[in-house]
Amino acid sequence: MKNILITGGAGFIGCHVVKLFVEKYPDYTIVNIDNLTYAGNLENLKVVETAPNYKFIKADICDRAHIKEIFETYGIDTVVHLAAESHVDRSITNPFEFAQTNIMGTLTLLNQAKESWKDDMTGKMFYHISTDEVFGSLGDSGYFLEDTSYDPQSPYSASKASSDHFVRAYHNTYGLPVLVTNCSNNYGPNQFPEKLIPLFINNILNEKPLPVYGAGLNIRDWLYVVDHARAIDVVLHKGKVGETYNIGGFNEWSNIDLIKVICREMDNKLQKPAGTSEKLISYVTDRAGHDMRYAIDSSKLKEELGWEPSLQFEEGIVKTIDWYLDNLDWMERIVSGDYQEYYNKQYK
Ligand code: NAD
Ligand code: DAU
Repeated sequence: MKNILITGGAGFIGCHVVKLFVEKYPDYTIVNIDNLTYAGNLENLKVVETAPNYKFIKADICDRAHIKEIFETYGIDTVVHLAAESHVDRSITNPFEFAQTNIMGTLTLLNQAKESWKDDMTGKMFYHISTDEVFGSLGDSGYFLEDTSYDPQSPYSASKASSDHFVRAYHNTYGLPVLVTNCSNNYGPNQFPEKLIPLFINNILNEKPLPVYGAGLNIRDWLYVVDHARAIDVVLHKGKVGETYNIGGFNEWSNIDLIKVICREMDNKLQKPAGTSEKLISYVTDRAGHDMRYAIDSSKLKEELGWEPSLQFEEGIVKTIDWYLDNLDWMERIVSGDYQEYYNKQYK
């Protein structure tokens, strides 16, 4: 039995974690808090919304009084913390929002956990979900390991790095039981269409230009989102207190190669002549401070806890495209209003 607080459960990765936990652990109480920013979408959670072991609360992780009340009301003994501002481009235009949510929000949760659990830390856990971007950018070779030095380059990664440091500081200083994971780029269903893969799928559908930053040679290491959720489950249940684990699928792609795969698959699915979608590729001004290459070495997670990705990329990307094509109304509801304003500003 656990009373788990999942933060950011209405977002892309969070909704897959919530669904996995609610379905797999009927004896746990899963409390999902999310303040439903532009990135939070309760539609993502329709299949679990009436489950007896699930509760959604609209709450801001920076709201100390509300967080305290939630810990007390539900006897929270475990935190799985995903809530964050997560888009690098937005962090470049609004770094303060990132510092507020990612640093102050994490600190608010950590401090409440410390206060609530101070008399007995047994069976308690604060699990912080972080990113490989905290390590900065790699050259042509090598991988990020758990002990790679932090070298964040964007306001987003600087705010995530800071939050990671606070988590470890609470472990070292107050003895808070913590776990940290740093994961590579996720892809899959329910991702907000400001991120590369859903953005490009949507633009192809609407025959809009595909804005490739710079020369398109930056490399990312892609993991199917459900495999990330499975890894979170494994780490929470088997991870060693105070440890960090890297999560990734050894699946590096240059942006341009990945985009060509998407174009090819979309031509297939839409029954268009080969090469149609590629004609939409449009090279645009590079992202400021654009990290060149990310690549995660997740051997520790495999060797110590037995986790491996379940899906090959070739299968995952087809599943992903199928999901977006089967859920056109999901996309249509999102890409109106605020999103249009963001899009026009970002891509002028
Ligand atoms: P997302 O932007 O899709 O979702 C974030 C969620 O947090 C949204 O539902 C949003 O409403 C909520 N949120 C934002 N501010 C909040 C606040 N103040 N209070 C409560 N809720 C708030 O992000 P994601 O891609 O699902 O990422 C989830 C976590 O995983 C983040 O911590 C991110 O840094 C990390 N991560 C993401 C990736 C990736 O590829 N997407 C990879 C590694 C790590
Ligand atoms: O590595 C993990 C990180 O992956 C997470 O921590 C972040 O939350 C998540 O957003 C993601 O960050 P990226 O910046 O790598 O993801 P994004 O989808 O924004 O971009 C992927 C690559 O594609 C990157 O090199 C920039 C490029 N790109 C992106 C967009 C949106 C383009 O070329 N054109 C675009 O329009």
